[in-house]
Amino acid sequence: MNRIVAKRWLAPSVACLEVEAPLTARKRQAGQFVILRVTEEGERIPITIAGSNPEAGTITLVVQQVGKTTHDLCALEPGQYLKDLVGPLGQPTHIERWGTVVAVAGGVGAAVILPIAAALQAAGNQVQTILGARSQDLLILEDELGAVSEKLWITTDDGSRGEHGLVTAPLERLLKAGPVGHVVAAGPLPMMRAVCEATRPYGVPTVVSLNPVMVDGTGMCGGCRVTVGGEVKYACVDGPEFDGHQVDFDELRARLAIYRDKEEISRGRRCQSQMQPVR
Ligand SMILES: Cc1cc2nc3c(=O)[nH]c(=O)nc-3n(C[C@H](O)[C@H](O)[C@H](O)COP(=O)(O)OP(=O)(O)OC[C@H]3O[C@@H](n4cnc5c(N)ncnc54)[C@H](O)[C@@H]3O)c2cc1C
Ligand code: FES
Repeated sequence: MNRIVAKRWLAPSVACLEVEAPLTARKRQAGQFVILRVTEEGERIPITIAGSNPEAGTITLVVQQVGKTTHDLCALEPGQYLKDLVGPLGQPTHIERWGTVVAVAGGVGAAVILPIAAALQAAGNQVQTILGARSQDLLILEDELGAVSEKLWITTDDGSRGEHGLVTAPLERLLKAGPVGHVVAAGPLPMMRAVCEATRPYGVPTVVSLNPVMVDGTGMCGGCRVTVGGEVKYACVDGPEFDGHQVDFDELRARLAIYRDKEEISRGRRCQSQMQPVR
């Protein structure tokens, strides 16, 4: 059981939770995640470790409500407990001194990019971060990302904040101005794919943090299978970060849709269980 120590809302459907997990807090590195269950009967879901406080023995999780489990998780209040949590899982981010690095975050991908940008900056890189969202109320972790970046560029699809448009516009400008030694991206699949297509002509190595469905997190169940450079990889043990120019995005998109019917049913059950009896 892991106690929720603090909670705040970063956006209407995105909560930031501080969770007691002393061993994980001590061991975790940028790029790693936990797999947790909210209840005994609940499914196991992967969530990135956005930060940690080893002294307090807590980790930071930033969670976007998309389906039943993430809704249940965001409904927890300080003093309540998660059923269990395992981690840190996955390979830590490979960090080198590349010079100028562009970190691209879309939506809740900001929680993935934050520890990576911090580690890149600590290694002596000049980190240019691009943070994008559909609209300004969905922009999260702006101050935190600004603190670990030489410059923070903001874009919104509807122009309500920052530059009107997609994250690829400032990325293109930075690539043209060059030299850029490395790019890392986390966010929705189409965004990560677009980032890879933008960097490909420049030959700039680009790492993406993939988010396939995960079950056991041990490389045994095959749930998180992805194809990278024609080879089968398991994102939970080989990733979640891979060379974006080698990722088969079409396959990953198809696999993410496999459980859509079951997810809809699960969401329906959640709504039914929350309905008040009619008298
Ligand atoms: C390594 C890793 C790290 C992650 N880190 C975070 C994080 O820090 N914060 C966060 O909010 N989410 C993160 N996710 C995504 C999170 O695990 C899913 O949103 C969650 O499992 C959905 O469960 P659910 O029951 O709430 O929704 P479901 O009912 O299972 O799904 C609802 C909707 O979300 C989509 N979905 C389901 N699983 C995923 C997934 N893995 N990635 C993207 N979309 C998905 C479905 O296609 C569906 O449209 C991460 C995923 C991985 C693989
Ligand atoms: S989650 Fe089972 S193999 Fe990766």
